Amino acid sequence: MSRPLPVLITADQIERRVGELAAQIAPLYRGEPLTIVGILTGSLMFLADLVRRLDGPLRIGLIQASSYHGTQSGTLTVGREIQGDVRGRHVLLLDDILDTGQTLRHLVEHMRQLEPRSLRVAVLLRKQGKQRVEVSADFVGFEIPDEFVVGYGLDYNDEYRYLPHVAVLPREMYSERSGMEPHANPARH
Ligand code: IMP
Ligand code: MG
Repeated sequence: MSRPLPVLITADQIERRVGELAAQIAPLYRGEPLTIVGILTGSLMFLADLVRRLDGPLRIGLIQASSYHGTQSGTLTVGREIQGDVRGRHVLLLDDILDTGQTLRHLVEHMRQLEPRSLRVAVLLRKQGKQRVEVSADFVGFEIPDEFVVGYGLDYNDEYRYLPHVAVLPREMYSERSGMEPHANPARH
């Protein structure tokens, strides 16, 4: 067994914060058609916990984005979409983490073209000082330092998503072996 990764945000802290976010979000949509669209795969836990804290009718959508930072310097494409027609519905786009902002900027643009009634963005985590692309999140769970984090949906090479908390992946776990940032690989979000 390898030793456990250092915990950055506990499961209890996440639960409490998701409850607070739900309390901010709910009054904005009361009685109006809402689709919450989770960006695969990292937002799955956040999505599942958040929707269960919101009452009222809402639909769940999923959208996939793939980036190829390593080979094509940050080209991002929209993959599979399972979200029904959002025209005339409010959309809340959810992601696990706002890092450079590339992914969300691209997906916000994409969603806009589908003509929702309104479009807002919620992220569980925002890395401080990393945003290079103009994109704003309407709801942010936690501001975190510039560390690579895993758990509660977030992965490193598709591992660790199952952790109930958010942990820091120590730099020696990736920099020595590959000499690369973890997200310099073709990424599955
Ligand atoms: P951005 O396009 O640079 O904002 O990156 C956003 C995506 O990169 C997120 O949706 C994550 O999938 C991934 N990502 C960025 N930072 C981390 C991290 O610290 N841990 C795990 N995934 C990350
Ligand atoms: Mg992601």
